[in-house]
Amino acid sequence: MINKYTSRSQLKRMPPVFGAPEVEHALNSFLVAIQRLREEATLKPLDTQGFCGSRAARAECRDAQLSPVDFDIQTQNFSMAPYHIRKYQESDHQQVVALFSQGIIEHIPTTFRYVLKLPRTLVLLLGGPLALFLVSGSWLLALGADLTLLAALRFLVKHCFTEYVVTSLNTDMSDITKSYLSERGSCFWVAESEGRVVGTVGALPVEEPSLRKERLELFHLSVALERRGEGIAKALVRTVLQFARDQGYSEVVLSTSMMQHSALALYQHMGFQKIGQYFHKKTWALMAVAVVQFSYRLPSTQVS
Ligand SMILES: CC(C)(COP(=O)(O)OP(=O)(O)OC[C@H]1O[C@@H](n2cnc3c(N)ncnc32)[C@H](O)[C@@H]1OP(=O)(O)O)[C@@H](O)C(=O)NCCC(=O)NCCS
Repeated sequence: MINKYTSRSQLKRMPPVFGAPEVEHALNSFLVAIQRLREEATLKPLDTQGFCGSRAARAECRDAQLSPVDFDIQTQNFSMAPYHIRKYQESDHQQVVALFSQGIIEHIPTTFRYVLKLPRTLVLLLGGPLALFLVSGSWLLALGADLTLLAALRFLVKHCFTEYVVTSLNTDMSDITKSYLSERGSCFWVAESEGRVVGTVGALPVEEPSLRKERLELFHLSVALERRGEGIAKALVRTVLQFARDQGYSEVVLSTSMMQHSALALYQHMGFQKIGQYFHKKTWALMAVAVVQFSYRLPSTQVS
């Protein structure tokens, strides 16, 4: 019987099962292939490489009702290509911009649903058309007003997110090399897998002149949709934390919106502390979507 302790040499020494040499050869090749799959499935990659047993893969396994062995083989050979983290290069620009934009825009539907459930929205969507009906006596007019309000709300939500993307693309992201790689205390990294950018993150000293030497700000963390749940974001954030330590910063700060639930979970999971929240603009306040600020204090490297 073949189990995970059966070595390849033992497999080769197994007695022939059938007489015909072709069948014997095919069967032995099959057994060796199975063993290789088992061996590959038990390899644990390095820290900044893809992890075995991600949340997404675990879910895939559960959905497909695979056994743990099938699951190990599945994750290593079909779901997860290895990745590595490296500094940004000019040739990455298009992919980085696409990944960043997608990572922001994807929150529009969730935010729209959230805004629809706000008491102020319900009052507006029910009260406005009802008042119009009472004044005009026309259901059609009331319905038209409701649909117009819905479209206006959808537009407002979309506008807030796209405005943020456009502003970033016209400022720090327009020339990433210049913004992030021209000074010692800042950097931009990508996670690359099979020649493709699957994750991004940047870091700049904060704008406040008196704090620039102490605080590093993390920006534009994003992971390709199909590569989520593999620990890529965690590895990217760890890269920023290590960089901050190496550069002598004492704190890493960042801001994210309250609608970015995965990001909130990730930062909390990694030990970031929530330090405040505010509304980015009046339009964001109108939607009751706050920006949440996080901080990660780096342990002092000085020995007393
Ligand atoms: C947030 C984001 C970067 C996470 O990327 P990821 O590679 O899937 O995250 P990881 O696999 O490294 O997850 C690490 C931890 O974060 C938390 N986490 C990440 N996604 C989560 C989710 N959807 N639900 C709950 N927890 C989640 C978990 O604690 C997870 O650890 P676990 O797998 O051991 O449970 C990704 O969802 C993304 O790109 N979102 C869109 C862009 C965005 O919102 N960026 C944040 C900008 S501030």
